[in-house]
Amino acid sequence: MNRVYIKTYGCQMNERDSEAVAAMLRARGYRIVNDEDNCDILLLNTCSVRDAAEQKALGKAGYLAQRKKHNPQFVLGILGCMAQNRGAAILEQLPDVDLIIGTQKFHQVPGYLDNLRAARDAGLPIGQSIVDVGEEEGSQNTIRDHLESPERQVTAFVSIQQGCNMDCAFCIVPKTRGDERSRPMDDIVAECRALAERGVREVTLLGQIVTSYGRRDYTHTNGISPFVQLLEKVQSIEGIERIRFTSPHPRGFKQDLVEAYGRLSKLCEYVHLPMQSGSDRILRAMNRPYSSQRYAEIVGALRAVRPDIYLSTDIIVGFPGETDEDFERTCRLFEACDFDMAYIFKYSVRTGTVAAELADQVPDEVKEARNQHLLELLRRNSERRTAALLGTVEEVLVEGPDKTGRHFTGRTRGNRVAIFDAHPRLVGELVPLRVERASVSTLYGELVLNGVA
Ligand code: 5AD
Repeated sequence: MNRVYIKTYGCQMNERDSEAVAAMLRARGYRIVNDEDNCDILLLNTCSVRDAAEQKALGKAGYLAQRKKHNPQFVLGILGCMAQNRGAAILEQLPDVDLIIGTQKFHQVPGYLDNLRAARDAGLPIGQSIVDVGEEEGSQNTIRDHLESPERQVTAFVSIQQGCNMDCAFCIVPKTRGDERSRPMDDIVAECRALAERGVREVTLLGQIVTSYGRRDYTHTNGISPFVQLLEKVQSIEGIERIRFTSPHPRGFKQDLVEAYGRLSKLCEYVHLPMQSGSDRILRAMNRPYSSQRYAEIVGALRAVRPDIYLSTDIIVGFPGETDEDFERTCRLFEACDFDMAYIFKYSVRTGTVAAELADQVPDEVKEARNQHLLELLRRNSERRTAALLGTVEEVLVEGPDKTGRHFTGRTRGNRVAIFDAHPRLVGELVPLRVERASVSTLYGELVLNGVA
């Protein structure tokens, strides 16, 4: 009666939160399983960033709630952003949900499940649903445990910060994730060190706005921000070979961070830098405090330090009031930045945000056309960037078997996924790969093993 399946929607932060919940549950004697049809407790860790994400999770929860008809013991929980955003209102639509747990209460999940199980074992009916979406001081420090698996884990996410104090007009995240709160630098470093001892070679530092990391808790030293100080500390951990992070904000992307790409050897030459729009008018309406020129300047500065840098971004099309001319500016900046990858979103109205109240909502057909146009620009650009890699040798970190189990997979420093044949003992090793073939998103090739294997 203690098999738990966790399904995660949304971003890497959510993935990380789910992993921490799984680790806490396992430590309490629960079994984490991979089969959603054979579990006793099913937890949906949800996303609210666009309406479609919420509808998907609500649909899934409605479908799963039917399982209770045949199996009244089955426990269904909704965790994370949508739980925070909608709270007890979820019960109006889905009265059978047992648990609704917000983003500052993930660590309470084991306790609540223990209580539910105890009540059940005592023969008590489960009665009322548990709703806990409060704020909790220090909750950022509870996303710290990692799930150990029998296979070696080569890469890991590390949460450095929770919440967001930016006020982007389109965004629900400040509501779902609360105030920005950073974890102590020493705790993060200790966590990375422990991961390295377990064989992890690559860490991705996670936060809503990592460039603001520690700004209330630490001072700049010699012009170096707390976030770059943290990168320096992770760089010095033996065993960690690669460092990534997501997401920075253009406002906090200062010269100290640009220069870190020139001097921190483990910092991978890949940056995900959300642009949202290339029109200054729209950036102002979005309450994004930078100009298109400043964005281009950061990209230029990064390319000056690392000509081989790989860039990706987030774009929203169809923000209220976006004209054809605004969109053309976005396309121009998009092309000038020469992105390898981009996540392009049609603006989605989020109740409670400033932009939801704006007149001039853009019709869906226009959003769709702009979306398609940018996707086409991206496809051409990625293809051209990928073609330039054919025949070159790239360093890959071997992560493990690919989905088919017939080959191995890993990533280049530029965050491109590669598929190749390898000996299992190479898992966790950095190995040169000769790129022989490529699709838009994946590289295929052969390891160059002279003297390595
Ligand atoms: N509609 C569409 N996209 C959004 N994003 C955030 N809020 C919205 C919204 N209301 C996008 C932004 C952000 C990414 C994670 O999701 O581009 O960077």
